Amino acid sequence: MSEFLPTGIQLSYLVAVALFFFGLKKLGSPATARRGNIWAAVGMLIAIVATLLDQHVLSYGMIFVGLVIGSIIGAIMAYKVEMTAMPQMVGLLNGLGGAASAMVAVGEFWRFLATAEAPPLPTTITAVLGVLIGGITFMGSMIAFAKLQGMMSGAPIMFPLQQWVNALLFGGFLVGSIYLCLHPFNLSVFLALVAVSLILGVLFVIPIGGGDMPVVISLLNSFSGLAASAAGFVVMNNLLIIAGALVGASGIILTIIMCKAMNRSLTNVLFAGFGTGSSAVAGGSGGTGDRTVRSIDPEEGAMMLGYARSVVIVPGYGMAVAQAQHSVKELVDQLENQGVEVRYAIHPVAGRMPGHMNVLLAEANVPYPQLYDMDDINPQFEQTDVALVIGANDVVNPAAREDKKSPIYGMPILEVDRAKNTIVIKRSLSTGFAGVDNDLFYKDKTMMMFGSAKDMVSKLVAEVKQL
Ligand code: TAP
Repeated sequence: MSEFLPTGIQLSYLVAVALFFFGLKKLGSPATARRGNIWAAVGMLIAIVATLLDQHVLSYGMIFVGLVIGSIIGAIMAYKVEMTAMPQMVGLLNGLGGAASAMVAVGEFWRFLATAEAPPLPTTITAVLGVLIGGITFMGSMIAFAKLQGMMSGAPIMFPLQQWVNALLFGGFLVGSIYLCLHPFNLSVFLALVAVSLILGVLFVIPIGGGDMPVVISLLNSFSGLAASAAGFVVMNNLLIIAGALVGASGIILTIIMCKAMNRSLTNVLFAGFGTGSSAVAGGSGGTGDRTVRSIDPEEGAMMLGYARSVVIVPGYGMAVAQAQHSVKELVDQLENQGVEVRYAIHPVAGRMPGHMNVLLAEANVPYPQLYDMDDINPQFEQTDVALVIGANDVVNPAAREDKKSPIYGMPILEVDRAKNTIVIKRSLSTGFAGVDNDLFYKDKTMMMFGSAKDMVSKLVAEVKQL
């Protein structure tokens, strides 16, 4: 245990924390994110080595075995994971972080009991906090993982008096915690608190729709940081306290950014059972009715794109599902060969995870300066000859701007309907994540190109080559 002295270990921790800060700062922009990741990783390496050199480490053998097994599993997972499965992978890792923090708290509490020494009050309080946050994070993340991985239904699971049951369990946890502070030798109460925290984790996530899981995972990420911070207080480790606080703060900031970009409150995400169709469609602008759409084939689309001066590509969830990013890059290369100016417009919540489109386009080697944020590109749509929407739906729905009754009213969108022409590639007229019909499809300047994104974009590439 550290005595908070400015020893070599504490100084190493300081260096590690500084690297975390600089790393986080660099993660703020896709252009510097890779370097930021490396800086933070070096910080973590310094932190681990410093901790291992700490004289309080009891068994290097056990740590080495854990390190080897964990590294092998982590490397295989990171190598094999599909980009679209990234949210559940992050969820799983968060959950394990929460479990580790809860186990540190349990271990420390147990150690006191084993020596028949009453844990000091601050240790009991922080151990109980670590168990609460760590337990919720662990079980909540496991449920989020199961929902996203399709191991259980993504539909919200609700039952009568759900909030009351949650409140009762939480109240019981508080009462048990107070009892434990007064009678710290009671192991059964401590174990009951562990069980309640795990149940709360399940109950917290089951009423949330599968589509909202990325927001929940970001929130649980924040919780896992808080749990680590609590564990840091339990074992009096400065680095764990600071690193946990950084994760806690960045997780909650990301959660808020995601909610704002969807124009929804966190309460709505957590309790409204959104994304299942029922809640979303209710206030929507109705079905297709007798409205008509114009559809074109890839040959006509290629003519429009090839003879345009400026094209803006708007990728969305459908491009991710179809894994069309490489074909999209090929199309853009072809168009640029024809002298067309091409840019990409990135909506903050396009796809299903933060930075989803940035990651996919980076994978296809799209140069970062070609990617434009919503606020930068929106004023430029009016001068754009063709906006090419590839598998995006909600993020380009003008109802968010025009239809006060729409559930997505107020959500900031990419204003492709202001472009001179808009081509939308998707398989049908079906709705997107929010379950809301899209007025864009029925506008005079919009042309639908029905088909799977990869197939359609590949056909466009072939056609543009022949121009
Ligand atoms: P969505 O609104 O979900 O629409 C995606 C569209 O892709 C669908 O309408 C679908 O239409 C089409 N599609 C599916 N497979 C396709 C394929 N193989 N080829 C071509 N098209 C295909 O997507 P978006 O515009 O990217 O918006 C994202 C939504 O997710 C927003 O509502 C956002 O709030 C929500 N959300 C985002 C996040 C983050 S952090 N990104 C987190 C949670 C929720 P067809 O079936 O007709 O093809």
